Amino acid sequence: MKIGLIGNGTIARVVTTHCEGSDGRIEIVGAVVLSEDGPSVGCHPTFKTLDPVLAMGPELILECAAQQAVFDYGTQILKAGVDLMVISVGALADAGLRANLEQEARAQNTKVIIPAGALAGLDAITAAKTDGLERVLLRTRKPPNSWAGAPGVEGVDLDGITEPTTIFSGSAGAAARAFPKNANVAAAVALAGIGVDETQVELIADPGVTRNIHHIEAEGAFGRLEIDVQAEPSPNNPKTSHLAALSIVRQLDKLTEPIQI
Ligand SMILES: NC(=O)c1ccc[n+]([C@@H]2O[C@H](COP(=O)([O-])OP(=O)(O)OC[C@H]3O[C@@H](n4cnc5c(N)ncnc54)[C@H](O)[C@@H]3O)[C@@H](O)[C@H]2O)c1
Repeated sequence: MKIGLIGNGTIARVVTTHCEGSDGRIEIVGAVVLSEDGPSVGCHPTFKTLDPVLAMGPELILECAAQQAVFDYGTQILKAGVDLMVISVGALADAGLRANLEQEARAQNTKVIIPAGALAGLDAITAAKTDGLERVLLRTRKPPNSWAGAPGVEGVDLDGITEPTTIFSGSAGAAARAFPKNANVAAAVALAGIGVDETQVELIADPGVTRNIHHIEAEGAFGRLEIDVQAEPSPNNPKTSHLAALSIVRQLDKLTEPIQI
């Protein structure tokens, strides 16, 4: 399978290492990167625009860059007849973008694939939705400094937090807007379940933790589930759980395997 990338950072590096060790099963033809990016994280060439990557004939392009990249390139990729895998899934909290991507994917018979990222249990939530979900909650707990830079903590003294403090409580859609770099998980759980307006999100700055901790509760006709993920941050980017990169690797492998779980 030939794939292209958007991004040349932490996740791109993990995915590239995996693909280069896959005995040609998954080949990266090229990546779209920003001008400030350093040399390629792998053997593949890098470009500042999408067209040269599309010209190399990928079946799928993996966005592992930033939400803006999904806005900039998403519809163009689908229009070119290429599948799109999105890890900056917070972008899809935007109803306009979601509708455009869906329309283009239907028109071209292409797919937008969303890996589970830093979460677990999205399979059960999508399955349970079939018979009706009543409530879905995501409570994310991270060390205070992991929330730094987000519009939602403007004016908050994160260094001064000495006990677990709720810094956001509201809908998944509002969470994605106030914490754009951290709320991909909120958007993912919302899209799998009852949508960005109905999914409840609580974000906690907790000086007592070193991992990124996601707790999901869902209730409906199926019964009730609770899932906890305590994900190690990536060594190169504390805002990114290493599990997110592994979930992409798994999705890519799945697309090339005869037996799929
Ligand atoms: N869904 C999830 O659970 C989940 C989990 C972790 C990270 N993420 C998201 O994955 C994305 C990548 O994470 P990372 O840790 O690899 O980040 P990173 O900062 O290490 O690397 C991002 C790379 O993308 C490039 N980039 C940024 N904007 C771009 C654009 N518009 N066009 C082309 N290249 C661009 C950067 O220059 C950099 O090379 C982030 O948006 C992050 O929020 C999602």
